[in-house]
Amino acid sequence: MDLFSCFANRCSFIFLIIIGCSLTFGEHNEKQCSCGKNLNRQSGNNEQNGFCSLDDSQKCSLSKLEQAPDNSQDEMVLIKSGSYSIGTNEPIFIADGEGPKRTVVLKSFLIDKYEVSNQEFATFVSSTGYKTEAEKFGDSFVFEGLLSEETKADIKEAVAQAPWWLPVKHASWRHPEGPSSNISGRMDHPVVHVSWNDATAYCNWLGKRLPTEAEYEVTCRGGLSDRLFPWGNKLTPNNKHRVNIWQGQFPINNTEEDGYYGTSPVTDFLPNVYGVHNIVGNVWEWTSDWWITKHSDEIQIDPVGPPSGTEKVKKGGSYLCHETYCYRYRCAARSQNTPDSSAGNLGFRCAASI
Ligand SMILES: *[C@@H]1O[C@H](CO)[C@@H](O)[C@H](O)[C@H]1NC(C)=O
Ligand SMILES: *[C@@H]1O[C@H](CO)[C@@H](O)[C@H](O)[C@H]1NC(C)=O
Repeated sequence: MDLFSCFANRCSFIFLIIIGCSLTFGEHNEKQCSCGKNLNRQSGNNEQNGFCSLDDSQKCSLSKLEQAPDNSQDEMVLIKSGSYSIGTNEPIFIADGEGPKRTVVLKSFLIDKYEVSNQEFATFVSSTGYKTEAEKFGDSFVFEGLLSEETKADIKEAVAQAPWWLPVKHASWRHPEGPSSNISGRMDHPVVHVSWNDATAYCNWLGKRLPTEAEYEVTCRGGLSDRLFPWGNKLTPNNKHRVNIWQGQFPINNTEEDGYYGTSPVTDFLPNVYGVHNIVGNVWEWTSDWWITKHSDEIQIDPVGPPSGTEKVKKGGSYLCHETYCYRYRCAARSQNTPDSSAGNLGFRCAASI
């Protein structure tokens, strides 16, 4: 609704259409539009305009990928089959579809302990020659506070409702803050600027898949009932930071009390009782479900979300989340982007059926 991007072969034009949705700091219900969903690409235009469809080239390149060596389940945890609760009857963002609380019955599944790291993604790319959508489109969204003055000086556009997001030419997983940046000191940080399609390709290469939203949330909750966070209800139990989010005044002053301004290593912060790290905070994570906001409160068996849609569910919140602005580092919280979108705070982990 707010950001229309039209991509031709070499160049991309970004048009901003400013639609109301005024942003006021301090009240949860004012900010429902500004937690990342305004970072969608509008790639549907490509086909109408007769440009080649990225989706098609994606499918072609996918079919050529060879399977990875089969040692990839070492860093996964088993979540046992059973009946679990997801959602909440005390939603913070009602319009996001955080409620109602409902029962899901899941088969046993495996899920990665960690977010997929730059190192792991680099192995995938060097084995397959895979090119991400951000690389094909030629740009991706970066948080303004991470950019050098030189990079910022070249950017004319911003996202109207969230001016701290800037579309950066040639930002990609290898160059998270644009061409002059690199990941050499961050190989153990989560890969970012990966679209849902990229994430799916990576997981499939390993014989895995993205988690469903229900699997993700069950993993997040760590067997606890009606708690906000994977460890309980207190954000910093014993004054210990459990999650990489924003401390200080967003977006101008991150006091970094948790140790980080941007991403942190995927192994950092204490795991929940399932042994899973950073299932909230650090980076948003893609799930396999299409986005809807109305949920039945009936018991669902192995729910996979609606059969079709336009946006995919992402969970967990990111290093940019703060209670006053994007209080979405809770297990019940959720947001969404189109499957070809990417940003510097959006990554993933994989799951597998057994
Ligand atoms: C990567 O970035 C760091 C920090 O900006 C810089 O010191 C280093 O020279 C860069 N490395 C390469 C290979 O470009
Ligand atoms: C950031 O916030 C801290 C804590 O409130 C304060 O001490 C510091 O001066 C602030 N920095 C800036 C640049 O505003």
